[in-house]
Amino acid sequence: MTTTPPSSDRRVPSLFPFLLASLAIIGTARLILENFNSINRPCSSLQQFSSETLSESGDQILSANISGDEFNVGGCNIFDGKWVLDSASSPPYTEKSCPYLTKQVTCQKNGRPDSLYQNWRWEPNACKLPRFDAMKLLEVLRGKRLMFIGDSIQRSQWESMVCLVQSIIPEGKKSIHRNPPMKSFRAEEFNASIEFYWDPFIVESNSDHATKHTVQKRLVKLDSIAKHGQHWEGVDVLVFESYVWWMYKPLINATRGSPYNVQEYNVTTAYRLGLNTWAKWIESNINPQTQKVFFMSLSPTHLWSWEWKAGSDGNCFNETHPIQGSYWGTGSSRDIMRILQNVFEEMKIDVTFLNITQLSDFRKDGHTSVYTERRGKLLTNEQKSDPNTYADCIHWCLPGVPDTWNEILYTYLLYDYHIL
Ligand SMILES: *[C@@H]1O[C@H](CO)[C@@H](O)[C@H](O)[C@H]1NC(C)=O
Ligand SMILES: *[C@@H]1O[C@H](CO)[C@@H](O)[C@H](O)[C@H]1NC(C)=O
Ligand SMILES: *[C@@H]1O[C@H](CO)[C@@H](O)[C@H](O)[C@H]1NC(C)=O
Ligand SMILES: *[C@@H]1O[C@H](CO)[C@@H](O)[C@H](O)[C@H]1NC(C)=O
Ligand SMILES: *[C@@H]1O[C@H](CO)[C@@H](O)[C@H](O)[C@H]1NC(C)=O
Ligand SMILES: *[C@@H]1O[C@H](CO)[C@@H](O)[C@H](O)[C@H]1NC(C)=O
Repeated sequence: MTTTPPSSDRRVPSLFPFLLASLAIIGTARLILENFNSINRPCSSLQQFSSETLSESGDQILSANISGDEFNVGGCNIFDGKWVLDSASSPPYTEKSCPYLTKQVTCQKNGRPDSLYQNWRWEPNACKLPRFDAMKLLEVLRGKRLMFIGDSIQRSQWESMVCLVQSIIPEGKKSIHRNPPMKSFRAEEFNASIEFYWDPFIVESNSDHATKHTVQKRLVKLDSIAKHGQHWEGVDVLVFESYVWWMYKPLINATRGSPYNVQEYNVTTAYRLGLNTWAKWIESNINPQTQKVFFMSLSPTHLWSWEWKAGSDGNCFNETHPIQGSYWGTGSSRDIMRILQNVFEEMKIDVTFLNITQLSDFRKDGHTSVYTERRGKLLTNEQKSDPNTYADCIHWCLPGVPDTWNEILYTYLLYDYHIL
């Protein structure tokens, strides 16, 4: 597959060819990324959670200030905050300590010279995230299945979650099973599994094969989901994500009704129709008493450095620090954000929107850049010396930003299952 160099004309539509190139890089087996929902419930829930937590255990979980009355005023939006340097307690694991990381994400091993990107902790403005405790999470997941569904971005979130919990489980009591399009990590003594299900558009498409999927001639079946859905039935915690695969071009080929009637759809229209199909499936197949549904908001890209550094002409390559101050990249579609929010609001079942787009948008330093692989092989030195063509500014290094997404997911799970 050919690689389209990043366009130097600075218009948003140029996102699409570049993304294609990036997708092609991953095309062999790895895939990409996406989205979310949470509206008002999270704030009040978390607020409540804090009080509960404090009254039961005395731990400082979500608030830095026990005696203050933050719980009763304002509340806490955990997606609103800043990155603080915390070399003492981060990263939560290392490339070496987690045997399950794939070479796509092990940036240090792949030659990345700086490592500060591993040392930032997300700090909400009005409270503190609870410290990730693998034992607590495994207790929550005892006898349960947690499944991440989506593309390669979502797969890295799965890898991150596995790394966050695996260190406390002794050898022989943990294992990985591959059964494409699924991968599953099992913690035997807890009878718990943390799974990944490859499904880049959520609805059915011609990209559903976990390794052999077409990147360029994508065709999405906007009203078909049963083939995937059967694998989600009965799963205790479902975490969905889908974004970048839609964003190849402003239009996308799709079917609706007759499988032979292929039409070009505006991507935002197609996304909404696909998400509606998903919402209907959720409403008729999920038991909200026993199952939880999360949706990740879109994972941002950092393809053009002029967006945060006027006059520059690069991308995420060489970036070592998060963006300070307000920033929203053009790669994060507000239309898609709105569609997600609208669909979740109308659903009869609560879907928790993990609104991580803004916090991740600050992290221009967190991407794999040239310290990654392309079609299963690490970039050559020659390719590394041409970051404008080869840097991957879509995927994230691990340890890194997806760990924070999981710390947030963890916070919700603790709350939902009344642990602590
Ligand atoms: C998600 O976060 C963005 C930026 O922080 C905010 O503008 C938007 O309202 C949030 N969406 C929801 C549904 O909470
Ligand atoms: C806690 O909050 C109260 C009231 O807002 C304030 O007076 C106090 O200084 C705070 N304590 C700490 C340790 O931040
Ligand atoms: C183990 O977990 C599965 C769900 O993941 C559940 O169906 C099964 O009953 C559990 N087995 C035991 C012995 O708890
Ligand atoms: C797609 O639809 C959106 C919303 O209706 C519109 O803003 C956008 O311009 C359309 N894009 C194309 C390529 O037609
Ligand atoms: C849709 O498919 C047709 C026929 O294969 C192709 O010519 C066209 O470029 C495709 N459109 C998009 C947006 O990919
Ligand atoms: C990357 O950073 C190094 C060291 O600061 C500098 O020498 C080099 O020119 C930078 N490369 C690009 C493409 O910005």
